[in-house]
Order: sequence, then structure tokens, then C-alpha cells
Amino acid sequence: MTSSTDKTSAQGMRKGLTKYGDDEFALFLRKSFIKGAGYGDEALGRPVVGIINTGSDFNPCHGNADELIERVKAGIEASGALPMAFPTISLHEAFSYPTSMYLRNLMSMDTEEMLRALPLDSVVLIGGCDKTVPAQLMGAISADVPFVQLVTGPMSTGSFRGQRVGACTDCRRLWADYRAGNLDESAIADANNALVPTIGTCGVMGTASTMALLAGAMGLMPLNGATAPAVSADRRRIAEETGILAADIAKRGVKPSSFLSQAAFDNALRVLLAVGGSTNAIIHLAAIAGRSGHDVSLDRLDKMAQQTPVLVDLKPSGSGYMEDLHDAGGLVCILEALGELIDKDAVTVSGKTLGTELAGFNTDWPQNIVRTPQDPLFGEGGLAVLYGNLAPDGAIIKAAAATPELLVHTGKAVVFEDMADLAARIDSPDLEVSADDVLVLRNIGPKGAPGMPEAGLIPIPRKLARQGVKDMVRISDGRMSGTAAGTIVLHVAPEAAIGGALAYVKTGDIISLNVEKRILEVDLSEAELAARAKEMPLKTHDSGRGYAHLFHTSVLQAPDGVDFDFLRAQSHKDT
Ligand code: FES
Repeated sequence: MTSSTDKTSAQGMRKGLTKYGDDEFALFLRKSFIKGAGYGDEALGRPVVGIINTGSDFNPCHGNADELIERVKAGIEASGALPMAFPTISLHEAFSYPTSMYLRNLMSMDTEEMLRALPLDSVVLIGGCDKTVPAQLMGAISADVPFVQLVTGPMSTGSFRGQRVGACTDCRRLWADYRAGNLDESAIADANNALVPTIGTCGVMGTASTMALLAGAMGLMPLNGATAPAVSADRRRIAEETGILAADIAKRGVKPSSFLSQAAFDNALRVLLAVGGSTNAIIHLAAIAGRSGHDVSLDRLDKMAQQTPVLVDLKPSGSGYMEDLHDAGGLVCILEALGELIDKDAVTVSGKTLGTELAGFNTDWPQNIVRTPQDPLFGEGGLAVLYGNLAPDGAIIKAAAATPELLVHTGKAVVFEDMADLAARIDSPDLEVSADDVLVLRNIGPKGAPGMPEAGLIPIPRKLARQGVKDMVRISDGRMSGTAAGTIVLHVAPEAAIGGALAYVKTGDIISLNVEKRILEVDLSEAELAARAKEMPLKTHDSGRGYAHLFHTSVLQAPDGVDFDFLRAQSHKDT
């Protein structure tokens, strides 16, 4: 864990004084300025609770940020502390070129350094959209400032020509129908108006929902704080409760390093598996653990996956939406259903154990969203880690969202060099491809794209889609949206751009996937791969300046969370 700066002993406005060489003058000057905004001495003498405002016109997932800030402030003021809202970078999936993952570490650095720079006794992190919560947790854990996470909450569902829909699983399904010629221009335009009926994060078990639940499972927010819809009264009340909790930990100085344990990360992994969570969350959790020196390795994940059934019936693995999970009791019911698989002695930000927190909720009513281990949505192994000569450092598949018949499959590779090559050829009538082939897309890893975009959901070639083909084995070194489904192998490590075997696969090579045996292999000898490495030189992806250069020279591979090497905790620096 990284230690705090020399400002730790001071409180409130005395904390982190600007270096003028005269601390009393620095305090005098600070108070002079802030009084210009109408604050009085009584308010300025209180503990300061920051509120990170990630509201942005470009981020409809955070469209309720102003309302939430108002309720958080009410909670903080009722507790006798001083609320101070301030902005950081905000990231939305559809407004982040080239991809939000490229900017996640930048947002984490912004968060960390603002938490170090400002006079904060604690802070409420308002996040929600996919990369925002991971970035905030990474930054706040590195800064080791007392914090509580608050998410903006999921959007409500909409209606498209009589069907209940929600972003973004249905966005992808309807777009695939349009590509296959099953929806016309007028239908897809109607869908475009219906898929996101309110502000808030994606309404299925995508990355945002998964990360919200993991933050709750780690004890970093009120236990009922993950699922309340963005436009509900529940969401506003949770914001107020979060403000009260943040004021409490400000007074008690509860740093994350004082309670965050391996048990918290293990509980998060269990919940990730039980909810059929986003594959992206594996990367984010590894990055967060890398900041505090805890273990979220692929081997740990795979071992737990073999003991943890998928219990939550939400898209894309199941059929419900986040508002259904909230009505069904949310995270509290999931933790109860997992029983002994959850370590209830893990301490939460409130200072109480998870078990004590859970005892305060009633979960005993009939419902059909959170299943029992005796009647799971999918048995153990909803996520699986694959190894083999194509992925010596591991790859991931979300078996729960795959086609069961394809989980053991051997086929001929059809290789796309990069996203531009994919876009140019995937719909060509001349593309030689059959439904039994294996689609391979390379150069979309952390360095290759750069930023490991969510392009791993390679579209079914149009000519096959029109024949009714819905799924094929697809392999890449990239990611896919947590809202997506299919037999998709992701996060292949090492990536092609740094000389992983994926770089040397050619169309026609035979690839074998066996999820049961955890194998991903290409039928090539080590000698053949080495010979190809000599004849197929790697391209450089370093632009040589700015953030792009920093990213290229510092980014780690997927198993290490795609974090920057210099941001990890000391204990993880050399791994
Ligand atoms: Fe923001 Fe899906 S785009 S959560």
C-alpha cells in the first residue's frame, strides 16, 4: 500500500497546505479565497468530506450526478461535516476515443492526485459507467484516503415494439438482427429511441453493474448501494446514507489500508462469478488488487470459478434486468445465497463485518432472480481461464454466455490482422469462411490497439449471419463489453503486439478450444512458431510523445489489470 503524504496529521482546511514556506499564511490565504465563495469560519472548522463529481454532458450514465451530490451533501451536513464537491475526468463508453480503457489509468491518476492534493478528511466517489468505478477505486486505494463509493445506478428498461429492452445486450442483439436483414431501417431507428429510456448505467449485468456489485461485496459502499435504479427514490436515499457514512469515516480516519483484506477481494471474485459478471471486471479487479498488494490472479479466479455457480438470472447470461435484481433484494440476497462461499468476517468501510451488515437485512421472500446453489442458472465454471501455446499467460471465456456445443471445438482459423482489416473484410461476399471456422482478431490488446478495445465480439460474417448463424468461436487479445454474449475467447496473453503466439497464426491453421480441459491451442510446433516470428516482424505502436507514449511504455498485460507498471503497489512492482 502506498503511504500518504506529510499532510496526514492535520484535519479539515489545515490539511495539505500549499507550500509557500509559511503554513499559517497558506491557511490564511486558503480561507480568504474560500470565504469568497460564502463559507464562514464555523463551516470551515469542520471535517471536510469531498464529493467527486463525474457529471458531464458527455456522460448520460452519470446524468443524475447533480441530484446525488445534493443528497450526499445533505447527509454530510446532517453529520456536522463540510461537503466540498469537485470534478475529475469522466469517461463514458460511447464517448471515449479510441476506447475508454485507454483512459482508465489516466482517470485513476487524476483521482489519486486530486485526493492527495485537496484537504480531504474523506471522500465520496461518484462513479458508474464502466471504467469510472475501477479508476476511482484504483486511485483512492493508492492515495489511501478514507472513501465511500457511490454509483449512479442502472437505467430503467424501455419498450421496443412490445419487447422489454435495455442497453446494452439488446443493442447488440438488435444490431445483429439488422445486419442479418431481419430488421429494416424504420425498426432499427425505433430501437435506437427505445434502448436507453433513462439516464443511468447499462441495465444488464455489464461491467458497470458488475463493478457496482463488487464494490459492495468488498465493503466499499452501503450493502444495498449497488442496484437501486438511477431515477429512483432509493438511489437518492442511498446517496444521503453515503454522505452520512463518509462523514463518519472522516471523523474516525478510516483509511482503506486499515480494513481492506484478501477476504474482501475473494468475496468480490465470488460475486463476480455468481452474477455471471463482465469479463472486464476481472481486469479491473486485478488492477485494483495490484494497487493494494492483494492477489487476483487468473489461477485464483479459475479455482473459485470451479466452485461457484452462476445464481443471478440477468442478461446477458440470463433474462432479467438490473431493476429486477434490485426488486429481488440486490447484493444482500446474492451474498446470502452464496452462504459459506463468502467470508463474512471481512471488515467493511463502516467498521462492521460483512456478516454484521448482512444481519441488518431481511432477505426471506420468494423471488426468481437470485437462484440458490441447488438451482443455479449455470453450474460451476461460468468463467474459465484457458492456457495453451496460443495463450501461455492465459485467456478468458465466459462459458455461461457461450453456446454449449461450441465449448469443445476444433476449427480452421480465419485471421484478421487488426480492426481495420476486420472492418474491410468481415462482410465481404468473397470472405472464405464457414460456421465451423474460428475467427481470430489480433492487435487489439493493451499495446496493440492501443487500450484493449471492446472489439472481441467479432461480428458473425454477414453472409453467415444471413444463413442464420448466430455464434462461432471467436478469439482475440482484446476485451468485449460485459453486455455481450457468444463463444468468445478474450484477453489472450501475451498479446500479439508484443510477440504473443497470436501474432503468428495464419488463416487455415487449426485451433482447438476445450473449455472443460481449459485448453486453447494452435496446431503449430514451437519451432514453427519461432520460424514465423522471424518472417513476420512486429509493428511498433509507440507514437513517441504524450500520454500515448506513457501508455505504450508502461502498460501491463491483461492478467496484471492493464495498469501502468509504476502505479502498482511496491509488493506488485516486480511481478
Ligand atoms: Fe455507461 Fe454502459 S455505457 S454503463
